[in-house]
Amino acid sequence: SASASKGKEQRRSAGELKKGSSPRQLIDLQPPRGTRDFFPEEMRLRNWLFDKFRHVSWVYGFEEVDFPVLESEQLYTRKAGEEITTQLYNFEDKGGRRVSLRPELTPSLSRLVLQKGKSLQLPTKWFAIGQCWRYERTTRGRRREHYQWNMDIVGVSSMEAEAEVISAIIDLFKLVGLSSQDVYIKISNRKLLQSLISTFGVSSEVFPQVCVCVDKLGKIPREAICKELVDLGLSAEVSDRIVGLVAEGTFEDYKRALVEGGSDESNLEVLKEIEGLLDILAARGYEDWIQFDGSIVRGLAYYSGTVFEAFDRDGELRAICGGGRYDHLLSTFGGKDQPMVGFGFGDAVIVELLKQKNLLPQLSPQIDDIVVSLDPALQKYTGQVASKLRSSGRRVDVVLEQKKMKWVFKQGDRTNARRLVILGQEEWERGVVKVRDLAEREEREVPIDDLV
Ligand code: HAM
Repeated sequence: SASASKGKEQRRSAGELKKGSSPRQLIDLQPPRGTRDFFPEEMRLRNWLFDKFRHVSWVYGFEEVDFPVLESEQLYTRKAGEEITTQLYNFEDKGGRRVSLRPELTPSLSRLVLQKGKSLQLPTKWFAIGQCWRYERTTRGRRREHYQWNMDIVGVSSMEAEAEVISAIIDLFKLVGLSSQDVYIKISNRKLLQSLISTFGVSSEVFPQVCVCVDKLGKIPREAICKELVDLGLSAEVSDRIVGLVAEGTFEDYKRALVEGGSDESNLEVLKEIEGLLDILAARGYEDWIQFDGSIVRGLAYYSGTVFEAFDRDGELRAICGGGRYDHLLSTFGGKDQPMVGFGFGDAVIVELLKQKNLLPQLSPQIDDIVVSLDPALQKYTGQVASKLRSSGRRVDVVLEQKKMKWVFKQGDRTNARRLVILGQEEWERGVVKVRDLAEREEREVPIDDLV
């Protein structure tokens, strides 16, 4: 937008500073690489989006929680080879403690669940919106900081929990103007892969690593993934079959592989779980929004069941959001496990998509009244008048210095003000002010006591 490019112009770099204009060199005006500043225009958009996040969370009856951006590093040092653990903004604080900026919210949420222990009323439904930090290679929609909206349910084992959070994502999409022709949610279940590897005789101990590895499909060559699987102890043949299935397998292909592999009943349960979830979502009327896709594995080690990610139908952007079931994370922190389901929804990809679809709202500053005095002697009363208007909930901009009316009208345009409230000597003495309706171009006198 014009204002954004103007902002960039103003962010001059140190090199452009004229020699001799200042004894000191201008600091670098850019924020650290991969991070963003939020000028008012960007902030308006961010607030617009967060309002939608909050609205959906509220209508689903979730309560908001928050945690520190800085956490103990041990919350994130999982050993399954996840990318996220190599991207930590971690350091030692002045007290010698290993700390990290949070790369995600799930470990903090888990910490809160453990802190409450038995006193936590289950099921618990919490949402959070927070900034996350990952030392990533920055690309379109990927940054070193992003905000994430999370909704998580603690204490529900049934697929109704998955259905609830997936419905919330769909409602958010609808709320920002997207349809099932624009976006869809790919759903799978990690137990599918787990059943497969157990059918193939692979130890379940390496399962989280296998998931992290298979999640790289599409990002690194297939051979490289097979090699990593072999390094984990899988045979070349099994690795190849797994990668082939995950890349291309239909629901029927998985079924066949499991049945033909002589899988026992418990391993076939997952097929029922997946069908069950799709069935609940269909009953909610979301058939067009969802699709089984065995290639969804997710790159985080802690997922234990359902996994899902939303994408744009054109397949141009990275995942809009992602989540799943993680029933065993709490025990990795030394606590008692609870069934948990949730998702993380970033603020970056969705904005890219809305921009592309021309669905970003035009948000402009909005002031109700501008209070201005025509006489320097009355300047000190502008605040009093503004305060009266503010107490009735109006957004009031006070002109703090003596300005020409031409400037005031311009300010009215810039802030989309509805009215000017003008203090003039002669009116003031009579206990009235002039109120000018900027749209109607009408002016009338209003007694100060009647001002609303
Ligand atoms: P995640 O897939 O790592 O999952 O991140 C969730 C979402 O956050 C992504 O789909 C994307 O929208 C956004 N995101 C992640 N990294 C970046 C980045 N570098 N730049 C911009 N956006 C990004 C999690 O973090 C899980 N903790 C989600 C979860 C909550 N699962 C259960 N509950």
